Amino acid sequence: MIRPMFGILVILAILSFPAIESRSHQNVVSSGIRFSALNCRKHSAILTDFGAVGDGKTSNTNAFKKAISKLSQMATDGGAQLVVPPGKWLTGSFNLTSHFTLFIQRGATILASQDESEWPVIAPLPSYGKGRDGTGTGRFNSLISGTNLTDVVITGNNGTINGQGQYWWDKFKKKQFKLTRPYLIELLFSKNIQISNITLIDSPSWNIHPVYCNNVIVKSVTVLAPVTVPNTDGINPDSCTNTLIEDCYIVSGDDCIAVKSGWDQYGIKFGMPTQQLSIRRLTCISPKSAGVALGSEMSGGIKDVRIEDVTLTNTESAIRIKTAAGRGAYVKDIFARRITMKTMKYVFWMSGNYNSHPDEGFDPKALPEVTNINYRDMTAENVTMSASLDGIHKDPFTGICISNVTIALADKAKKVQWNCTDVAGVTSRVTPEPCSLLPEKKAPAKNEDCAFPSDLIPIESVVLKKCSL
Ligand SMILES: *[C@@H]1O[C@H](CO)[C@@H](O)[C@H](O)[C@H]1NC(C)=O
Ligand SMILES: *[C@@H]1O[C@H](CO)[C@@H](O)[C@H](O)[C@H]1NC(C)=O
Ligand SMILES: *[C@@H]1O[C@H](CO)[C@@H](O)[C@H](O)[C@H]1NC(C)=O
Ligand SMILES: *[C@@H]1O[C@H](CO)[C@@H](O)[C@H](O)[C@H]1NC(C)=O
Ligand SMILES: *[C@@H]1O[C@H](CO)[C@@H](O)[C@H](O)[C@H]1NC(C)=O
Ligand SMILES: *[C@@H]1O[C@H](CO)[C@@H](O)[C@H](O)[C@H]1NC(C)=O
Ligand SMILES: *[C@@H]1O[C@H](CO)[C@@H](O)[C@H](O)[C@H]1NC(C)=O
Repeated sequence: MIRPMFGILVILAILSFPAIESRSHQNVVSSGIRFSALNCRKHSAILTDFGAVGDGKTSNTNAFKKAISKLSQMATDGGAQLVVPPGKWLTGSFNLTSHFTLFIQRGATILASQDESEWPVIAPLPSYGKGRDGTGTGRFNSLISGTNLTDVVITGNNGTINGQGQYWWDKFKKKQFKLTRPYLIELLFSKNIQISNITLIDSPSWNIHPVYCNNVIVKSVTVLAPVTVPNTDGINPDSCTNTLIEDCYIVSGDDCIAVKSGWDQYGIKFGMPTQQLSIRRLTCISPKSAGVALGSEMSGGIKDVRIEDVTLTNTESAIRIKTAAGRGAYVKDIFARRITMKTMKYVFWMSGNYNSHPDEGFDPKALPEVTNINYRDMTAENVTMSASLDGIHKDPFTGICISNVTIALADKAKKVQWNCTDVAGVTSRVTPEPCSLLPEKKAPAKNEDCAFPSDLIPIESVVLKKCSL
C-alpha cells in the first residue's frame, strides 16, 4: 500500500509545481497571503502592471514611481497596496505615499541601483545641518523614502531589500564622496508607520531611519550587513515620539540600534527629542559597535527609553551612551533589563568625549545632561572589561543605577574592570565589584532593584488588523 501511495504523491507534486509557480506570478492577489498591519487597504495592484521587469538588470525606478503615483489617488478611498512579486527588481530611489502598503513577497528582492543618477540629491536634515559623510552638505535620497506621510506600511512575508552596498562602501572608504550615502528606508515628518517582516541586506549605510516621526512600529525585521563595513546601523529612531522596535534580528558593522536626535547647534535649535521608545526582543551581533547606542547625535534630547529581553553576541558593548560638550540637551530616564550577553569588549560604556562635530560653529558650553540611567537583571560571559564610564569634567553623568548583574570575564580580561570618571550613582548585587563612584546601596535599600516603568508607551497597546492580499 505504501509504495503506490508514495508514487501518486510524487506525480501530484511534479504536476502541481508549474501551476503554483504561474499562480504566484500572474495572480498574486488571489494567493491569500495573510499579514498583520496598522490598516488594510481597499485597492491592490502588482508591480508588473506598471511595466516592471524582474530580471535584476532592467531599471524599474519608473515602474515604482508610476505605480505609487497611480495608487496615491486612492488614498482617500480606502488606500492601496502595491505587491512586489517574486523576482529581482532593480530600482533607484522612490518616494512613498499616504494610506499605502508596500508588500514585498517572499522570493522578491528590491535591488538598489548602483547608478548614482538614479538617486536624487536632497538637502541635509535640518537637525544635522550637514551630511554625515563626506565634505559636502547634500545627501542621496534614501532608496525607499517619504515626507509628510500618514499611515504607511512596508511589509511582506520576508521579502528582501538588497542595498548592493559594495559600490558605496568602496567609494566611501576611498573618501570619494562629497555627498552622504543613501539609507534603505527613511521616513521624515510622518506618522503611523509600520515596517515589518522584511529582510534588509547590504545597505550602503544606515538601514531604517524614521526621523521626526510619531507612532512607529518596526517589527520582525532582519537586517544583515557585513560586520566589517562602516555605518551600516540597523535601526535609527531619530527625533521620534512613540516608537516600538520588537522581534528584530540584526547583524551590523555599526550599532544595531542607534537612538538619535540631531547634531550640536543644529539639533539644539531644531529641538525635537526622541522619547517614548520601547525596544524588546532584539538579537544583535555587532563586533565593532553597540547593541543599542544613545547618541552620539542627541542634541534634541533622548528620554524615556525602555530596553528589555535583548540577546547580544559578539558585540563591542551592550548599551552605549555617546555624547560630548557641544551637544547640549539630555539623555535621561533610560531603563534596561534582561540583557543576555556573550563575548563583549565592554558591558557598560559611556563616552562623554565623542568629539565629532558638524563644523566649528558648535558651542563648547552646551553641556549635555545625562541622568537617571537604570540597568538591571543582566548576565554576560567572556567579557574583556565590565565598564568604561567616562562622564564630562564639571558635568558628571548622575543617577546611574545598576542592579543584579553578573559578569563572567574572558581569559584575557583587563586588570581594571571598572574605570569610572565624572559619574555618580549606586549599584546592588553586581559582580565584579563596581568602582568607588558607584558604591553598593546601603541598607534598607540594599536589595532594591533599579527602576523599570510598569506602564506601557501608547504604541505598545496598538492591535494590528488582519489583512490579506
Ligand atoms: C522624493 O521626495 C524628495 C522631497 O522630499 C524629493 O527631493 C525627491 O526628488 C523625491 N524623489 C523622487 C525619486 O521623486
Ligand atoms: C512637508 O510639509 C511642510 C509643512 O507643511 C512643507 O513646508 C514641506 O514643503 C512639505 N514637504 C514635502 C516634501 O511634502
Ligand atoms: C511576520 O513575522 C512573525 C514573527 O516572525 C510571524 O509570526 C508572522 O507569521 C510573519 N508574517 C508574515 C506575513 O510572514
Ligand atoms: C528571512 O530571510 C532571511 C534571509 O534569508 C533569513 O535569515 C531569516 O531567517 C528569514 N526569516 C524568517 C522569519 O523566515
Ligand atoms: C571569547 O572572546 C574572544 C574575543 O575576546 C573570542 O576570540 C573567543 O572566541 C571567545 N570565546 C568564546 C568561548 O566564545
Ligand atoms: C537577576 O537577573 C536574572 C537575569 O539575569 C533573573 O533571571 C533573576 O530573576 C534576577 N533576580 C532578581 C531577584 O530579580
Ligand atoms: C580610564 O579612563 C580614562 C578616561 O577615559 C583614561 O584616560 C584611562 O586611560 C583609563 N584607564 C584604564 C586603566 O583603562
